[in-house]
Amino acid sequence: TAVSQIRIYEVGPRDGLQNEAKFVPTDIKIELINKLAAAGIKDIESASFVSPKWVKQMSDGVEVMKNIPRVPGVNYPVLIPNLKGYEIAKQCNIEEVAIFPAGSEAFSQKNLNCSVEEGLKRFKLVADQAVKDGIRVRGYVSCVVGCPYEGPIHPKGIAKITEQLFEMGCYEVSLGDTIGVGTAGSVKRLMREVLTVAKPEQLALHFHDTYGQALSNLVAGLEFGIKTVDSSISGLGGCPYARGASGNLATEDLVYLLYGLGVNTNVDLVKLIEAGRYISNFLGKPTESKVNRAISDR
Ligand code: HMG
Ligand code: MG
Repeated sequence: TAVSQIRIYEVGPRDGLQNEAKFVPTDIKIELINKLAAAGIKDIESASFVSPKWVKQMSDGVEVMKNIPRVPGVNYPVLIPNLKGYEIAKQCNIEEVAIFPAGSEAFSQKNLNCSVEEGLKRFKLVADQAVKDGIRVRGYVSCVVGCPYEGPIHPKGIAKITEQLFEMGCYEVSLGDTIGVGTAGSVKRLMREVLTVAKPEQLALHFHDTYGQALSNLVAGLEFGIKTVDSSISGLGGCPYARGASGNLATEDLVYLLYGLGVNTNVDLVKLIEAGRYISNFLGKPTESKVNRAISDR
């Protein structure tokens, strides 16, 4: 690949758990976060401060953030939909927030209850405040190649939103294939367009694996010099407002791939496998990580 070191941005405790029907108790969420940190993950998206009426699973964000034993050098960002969520999160000693406009009009309505433009305005209020407060801001764009309601999405619009996120002060923008419909082909077309407004080191890739394309999409993306990859322990994940969306690229599978490519991650795969088993056992379902399954079966 084009780079020798990849930063793994773990989304399991947020994206991974938000779609789980059964409420995961706060202490289990915290223990999962601890295990991920112990495995060497340095960026762990740990909670969201969205409306509890919309996503009940994330309603204990304050308790989670106040009780994580913070490991020095580990970043614990949180997902924020509006100023109200930001104000709540700010009470919890946060250093980084993530904002998440949609790449499609219909998905914006379903996920944020507003238009793309209105969403960008709300997120700008959050970003402005965070910048003033000295809190880092990360941006996501969702539905970057396809929308569950509108179908294929043109890369030009995604590049435009990406540019707006940088103008708001985001240090990085994560391109989200929310419903996992992308292929190496559509990802390459997206990258060529977005790289007209961003440098590769300012971008992250966030793939869901609905159609089994996450790993090959990633390899396609890495060829462009991307240095940050989002993934979720055990392949958990999905969005309650994206019909048919399944789990994220599994962190175990990502680490295994990168090891094979000779890319440094500083992550302990054995400890990562344990973290994956811990949460799958709690949820009472088999892991979605093929690497975890293969290693656990041996
Ligand atoms: P709304 O219902 O239009 O909000 O939802 P509202 O502003 O009209 O407020 C309604 C009520 O909610 C009020 O309370 C507010 O105070 C309260 P009431 O007066 O009725 O008692 N409220 C809040 N309470 C706590 N925290 C808040 C908050 N905001 C309002 N932050 C809203 C609009 C944006 C809030 C809602 O649509 C929402 O929470 N959406 C988030 C949905 C979500 O979490 N989706 C999953 C994350 S996105 C994702 O997974 C994709 C990603 O992974 C990338 C990818 O995969 O591509 C990031
Ligand atoms: Mg996601």
